[in-house]
Amino acid sequence: MIPRALGGVVDMRTTLGLTPIPSPVLTASGCAAAGRELDPFLDLTALGAVVTKSVQLRARSGRPTPRMAETPSGMLNSIGLQGPGIEAFLATDLPWLVRRGARAMVSIAGGSVEEYAELATRLRTAAGMIALEVNISCPNVESRGEVFACDPAAAASVLAAVRSADPGVPIYAKLSPDVTDIVSVARACVEAGADGLSAINTLLGMVIDTDTLRPVLAAETGGLSGPAIRPVALRCVWQIHRAMPAVPILGMGGIRTGADAFQFVLAGASAVSVGTAVFGDPSAPARIAHELAQILARKGFDRISDAVGFAHRVAAHAEANQVSG
Ligand SMILES: Cc1cc2nc3c(=O)[nH]c(=O)nc-3n(C[C@H](O)[C@H](O)[C@H](O)COP(=O)(O)O)c2cc1C
Repeated sequence: MIPRALGGVVDMRTTLGLTPIPSPVLTASGCAAAGRELDPFLDLTALGAVVTKSVQLRARSGRPTPRMAETPSGMLNSIGLQGPGIEAFLATDLPWLVRRGARAMVSIAGGSVEEYAELATRLRTAAGMIALEVNISCPNVESRGEVFACDPAAAASVLAAVRSADPGVPIYAKLSPDVTDIVSVARACVEAGADGLSAINTLLGMVIDTDTLRPVLAAETGGLSGPAIRPVALRCVWQIHRAMPAVPILGMGGIRTGADAFQFVLAGASAVSVGTAVFGDPSAPARIAHELAQILARKGFDRISDAVGFAHRVAAHAEANQVSG
């Protein structure tokens, strides 16, 4: 690579686990289905990967409507895990991405540890899958609906089962911010076999209609996403990276610009996902990748990997100076 100072461009290559990807910007699960909808708006092959909507064992129609509500600087959704099920996903969605030349990070979701393990087993030989994202923000039907991601032991049991199924690609655990101590869940997932962590999923929220005097969403509560959650997401990435600097993080939550993505990189993310922003601008992931490269160049970085977690080093340096000064 030609150093940037000699006219080269910033090296934007990064990895998902040990798998190399050409760009640090990915889509976010649930915001671009299986990629097809975005195809007219950007070059899917230039993305780090398309992160697919969480797939379950069986087809699901999702939650009742209305299931979207606007909120200040964000949106609330209670789509639920609507989708065709793993059979149709393997027959149609994944082969389409492969034909298109795109990389797929496949997101899976289940209602029991066994379901997650079976999904990972079914995906073992899936062509085109470069990484697995385990969405653990799902209620455990065998434990009174307790969300896996909200308990370190439950989260670890899912990751251990997926690891045992040996899907043959890096495994990322997708964490929920709706916990008191995200680091303890993150650590449990890594100790159980996760290669990386995706942070964060949506935050549970609600809106009440003051005319009808009822919750706007038929499901009453839903997941909050978009710029409103960005500071929370950034704080989570920061805390996880500080506790486990060697563990790769896929950061997300309200990323709308290259500067937003840069904040996540500085906090410790080695790649980012763009979700809600694509509803307003379907080309957002490509634009954000371009803007991020420009910012890195302006700040003097030759490669994105040098910027990962950089703000921690600056903060530690400032603290050391304060102590000695
Ligand atoms: C409409 C919608 C559907 C989503 N579906 C999923 C999903 O199936 N699986 C998952 O892990 N996350 C899902 N998410 C969460 C996103 O992947 C992402 O973690 C979150 O929205 C924060 O990023 P953002 O603010 O850029 O959207 C969904 C988000 C939205 C807005």
